Amino acid sequence: MIRVYVPRDSGALSVGAEAVAIAVATEAVTRGQPVDVVRNGSRGLYWLEPLVEVETAAGRVGYGPVSAADVSGLFDAGFLTGGKHRLALGPVEKIPYFERQERLTFARVGITDPVSIADYEKYQGFRGLRNALNLTGAAVVDQVTQSGLRGRGGAAFPTGIKWKTVLNTQAVQKYVVCNADEGDSGTFSDRMVMEGDPLVLIEGMTIAGLAVGATQGYIYLRSEYPHAARTLDEAIRNAYAAGYLGNDILGSKRRFDLEVRIGAGAYICGEETAMLESLEGRRGMVRYKPPLPAIQGLFGQPTVINNVISLASVPIVLDGGADYYKDYGVGRSRGTLPIQLAGNLKHGGLVEKAFGVTVRQLLYDFGGGSLTGRPIRAVQIGGPLGAYLPESQFDTPLDYEAFIAIDAMVGHGGVVAFDDTVDMARMARWAMEFCAIESCGKCTPCRIGSTRGVEVIDRIIANRDRAANTELLRDLCDTMVAGSLCALGGMAPFPVLSALNHFPEDFGLHAAEPVAAVR
Ligand SMILES: Cc1cc2nc3c(=O)[nH]c(=O)nc-3n(C[C@H](O)[C@H](O)[C@H](O)COP(=O)(O)O)c2cc1C
Ligand code: SF4
Repeated sequence: MIRVYVPRDSGALSVGAEAVAIAVATEAVTRGQPVDVVRNGSRGLYWLEPLVEVETAAGRVGYGPVSAADVSGLFDAGFLTGGKHRLALGPVEKIPYFERQERLTFARVGITDPVSIADYEKYQGFRGLRNALNLTGAAVVDQVTQSGLRGRGGAAFPTGIKWKTVLNTQAVQKYVVCNADEGDSGTFSDRMVMEGDPLVLIEGMTIAGLAVGATQGYIYLRSEYPHAARTLDEAIRNAYAAGYLGNDILGSKRRFDLEVRIGAGAYICGEETAMLESLEGRRGMVRYKPPLPAIQGLFGQPTVINNVISLASVPIVLDGGADYYKDYGVGRSRGTLPIQLAGNLKHGGLVEKAFGVTVRQLLYDFGGGSLTGRPIRAVQIGGPLGAYLPESQFDTPLDYEAFIAIDAMVGHGGVVAFDDTVDMARMARWAMEFCAIESCGKCTPCRIGSTRGVEVIDRIIANRDRAANTELLRDLCDTMVAGSLCALGGMAPFPVLSALNHFPEDFGLHAAEPVAAVR
């Protein structure tokens, strides 16, 4: 039977993939041409969704963006054997946007049926776990350390070092918690993995559990991802049934159990200690550190906390070896990063590349420039706490250290582009307002400072004592950076100050005014 792929990814569903899948199945029955409609993840070429793929003798060919109304015409054109049609894209893997990528973490996303164990195994799945079962915990941790993998959730802390702390802390019960809160604006790579290849996350978490001696894992998932929740639950059930989870993983007598927990919707619940509070059934409030969660985390026990992408990258390391992964990247930023292109771009979507690709390459070679056709004036990278980069910084390579050097951050790899109609004073105000709304309220610089910050920016915009208020804003930002308990209050000044420094004219300030350092 001919396999036709129609994504079940939320991005594809939001533009009508469900109706397309139904139309393909119905039309096939009506015409007596049996097809097997497989609901895959998205390839990440979002402007082409719903992207329908057909498995032909010459490989998988794509058609997109397809609407339900196009389906009958596609059958008429013989799309089941790769027939010509105005929506024909040819082999998807030859589309330059896709062909130029280096897909390691996303190797299977869009290719397999996300919940099929057989598909996962066919495409190298569970090989890392099988290797890990033959190694000591310390040897697994060593592999992860040697790979140079750093946390993809934002702070870029070396994953192996975190795991080593948990491994070396004695306790009867240890945990692995996956941070799937994905609250940053312009980010969706965690969701794409959970909807498109959840088994790789399950495999990565199981390897983490075996490595540090944890027998229970939780995926802390934001409530805004109901499709991911369903896909994860189905994949977890299938992994249990196939012996990849449970009391006796692949006959090894080693145990790892896994459950999904749904958050209630707050940006701060992505901060790891607030997430633990939420998981324990309390309001998401930041905890003081120390103790580190690696020593006293969930229910006071040693806990590995990692982002979805960090954990989903682990099976590659355990399968291909630390050197294979480390060969990608630049400086201390090793491996690849699934970058998410969003905002005012022609070609928004997912681009996995080795570290070192420049912002300009992402915006133009992949993104195709702005959707409006106007010049791109600013990009915000790393979510709502990331700095705004002006055009003069577009040649910066994606590299944690290169970004720190320009007072910016790579964060979770979300890139949001704005054209020259953007008002950067309003964007600065929005950053402060976001902090005021999302503040957990535990510390004064953030709780009070962000609200006062909005007021001060309003006075600058309204030209009330502009010079004095600009100085006051800088002072306030200093206090927030130095005095906040966590990175919400500690980093909200970055977008504000980068807007002020790089785009002073939007605040009514003279462009030639001396630009102070961010900190
Ligand atoms: C306000 C705030 C929000 C955060 N949101 C997330 C999030 O949504 N997902 C995530 O993985 N990390 C988030 N983090 C980072 C986590 O605190 C933590 O560093 C991360 O989950 C550790 O995993 P990693 O080492 O794999 O990156 C956030 C941090 C802060 C301060
Ligand atoms: S900086 Fe803000 S979010 Fe973080 S602990 Fe303080 S009040 Fe809470």
